[in-house]
Amino acid sequence: MRNRRAALAAVATAASLALTLTACGQNSEGGGEEDKKGSEGATIGISMPTKSSERWIADGNNVVTDLKSKGYKTKLVYGEDDPDQQVSQIENLITQGVDALIVAAIDNKSMNNVLQQAKDADIPVISYDRLILGTENVGYYASFDNEKVGELQGTYIVEKLGLKDGSKKGPFNIELFAGSNDDNNTRYFFQGAMNVLQPYIDKKQLVVKSKQTELNQVTTLRWDGGTAQKRMEDILTSAYRSDRVDAVLSPYDGISIGILSSLKSDGYGSASKPLPVVTGQDAEVASVKSIIAAEQSMTVYKDTRELAKVASNMVDALLNDKKPETNDTKTYDNGAKVVPAFLLEPVAVDKENYQKVVVDSGYIKQSDLD
Ligand code: GAL
Repeated sequence: MRNRRAALAAVATAASLALTLTACGQNSEGGGEEDKKGSEGATIGISMPTKSSERWIADGNNVVTDLKSKGYKTKLVYGEDDPDQQVSQIENLITQGVDALIVAAIDNKSMNNVLQQAKDADIPVISYDRLILGTENVGYYASFDNEKVGELQGTYIVEKLGLKDGSKKGPFNIELFAGSNDDNNTRYFFQGAMNVLQPYIDKKQLVVKSKQTELNQVTTLRWDGGTAQKRMEDILTSAYRSDRVDAVLSPYDGISIGILSSLKSDGYGSASKPLPVVTGQDAEVASVKSIIAAEQSMTVYKDTRELAKVASNMVDALLNDKKPETNDTKTYDNGAKVVPAFLLEPVAVDKENYQKVVVDSGYIKQSDLD
């Protein structure tokens, strides 16, 4: 089904033939059948960024399961964190004649040409979790409230240090980490966290001893834990010879694990030198285990099963000529247009509520944490 428009025209012809036959007294299954025909036999291409993080493996599997339950065929590819590889994989999916694309971009600005090809072949595109920038050829965006993710991380730090409610406590030392600079989510996470933290930095109740406070000084290419570990080591060596770091803003669990490992190598984790408050995101198994072991302090849980549902519902609506459900039509301007979005709610998780939120909900099996 290379050209969806031609396919839809064929379906329309078949549907009007069915109506004529019904009018002539032949049997018909009724209108519901016709509604479904636009998507019958359709194949959806799914392009995910990397298998190096468990969340994207789960995302890919969840999207496939969900689409299959709706009767679609799927082709799932992973770009292994290489933007060129991802673009050529999407080109292949277009050549293979997929009917719609769901894309979680590695580099949000690398997609213009390939999405033009999708447009020319009449293939609708859903931007999955990370907004694709600079092109009109993105139909819809399925994600979480990304600024809220950062707010949850910032608020957790402020509360754990006892700074809330006008307390004059401090000064406490904090270091800031952000995600990959080619991922549009990065600035939303950072902005959300800084909305909460900046007032305390301004009042000097929080001090960034490395002086690295601008987004472009604190990003972590491709969200790589090893890169974050190295940066934390450098900061500890240069700015913390006689002081202790009390909190580290980390945007993602893989980065948190890297940060914790350099802190532990530096002697943190004892009664006399406790680990700082360390945030995270994604509720990955290694981080939930770390939270149970009182190392990482919190993570932000985003139910990717729900995200997969949102994305596959969007595709299903589009291929049946319906309007996908959205709940935000203002926030996500990609530079070429405001992309209509459906945003899900993130949830802060720590030792107190991980059982209820991530285990009882079936997101992580208890046996994986034992
Ligand atoms: C972001 C995503 C986060 C985290 C990160 C690293 O785009 O929103 O949840 O997974 O990538 O993979």
